[in-house]
Amino acid sequence: MISVASARIARKVRLTSSDILIIAENFLAAVTVHRIGAEARLDSATWMNRSVVLKQRVVKSYRHPTLDKSLQTFRIKNEVRLMLEARRAGVSVPIIYSVDLAENRIVMEEIPGMRVKDALESLPSEKAEGVCRKIGEIAARLHANDIVHGDLTTSNMLLDDDRIVVIDFSLGSKTSELEDKGVDMHLLEEAFHSAHYKRSELYEAVKDSYVRAYPAGATVLKKVEEIEKRGRYTRKE
Ligand SMILES: Nc1ncnc2c1ncn2[C@@H]1O[C@H](COP(=O)(O)OP(=O)(O)O)[C@@H](O)[C@H]1O
Ligand SMILES: [Mg+2]
Repeated sequence: MISVASARIARKVRLTSSDILIIAENFLAAVTVHRIGAEARLDSATWMNRSVVLKQRVVKSYRHPTLDKSLQTFRIKNEVRLMLEARRAGVSVPIIYSVDLAENRIVMEEIPGMRVKDALESLPSEKAEGVCRKIGEIAARLHANDIVHGDLTTSNMLLDDDRIVVIDFSLGSKTSELEDKGVDMHLLEEAFHSAHYKRSELYEAVKDSYVRAYPAGATVLKKVEEIEKRGRYTRKE
């Protein structure tokens, strides 16, 4: 069903591509809940005959409505901008079909396949090591282009055949700060030591390919050691 506003746009003015997107938004069909998280709700849907994921930010009722709205708008724009930057840096990310700031929603390509987190549990060692080398290369590409993901874990990577697709840039930023890149790598390492504790030696492959692909990589990994020391010190107190 085409909304009144979109129909009016279609009648009165020549359609631009963004108008077409507004109208196309109304052809969403077969929405099923995928996951409801603290910050976002994910639905699978069909959009113009394509399998898509709708990522809709959850409204926080404890925040002032105006503040909440501007925060949501900032986060959506931030996520989309970083996805596009990552793609430009040669990192696979889902194709973005539409961004609706009124609904706090991104419509993006649905990536078939499983999370790297789950794949690493079942893949034979050689394949798992290959995946880890690719993870290191992805982190290197992001950081070489001053893109910090903000939640760089294997839950935010999807395995589509041999391709790793990175998602969930909502906490990311564009920065050259060593500290931020270090925190990214620290989080990734923690993921290997908790989620993948049985195969945590695989993280060596991540580090090795990260350093090979990124000239400043060794300096970032030194920073990670410092962050870990700081963490141990604060935990003791
Ligand atoms: N484009 C996508 N294709 C397939 N699954 C997706 C896609 N985006 C998100 N998901 C699934 O939804 C989950 C949550 O999405 P994510 O963007 O990480 O939001 P959250 O902030 O809730 O972590 C992911 O772990 C993944 O399983
Ligand atoms: Mg996530």
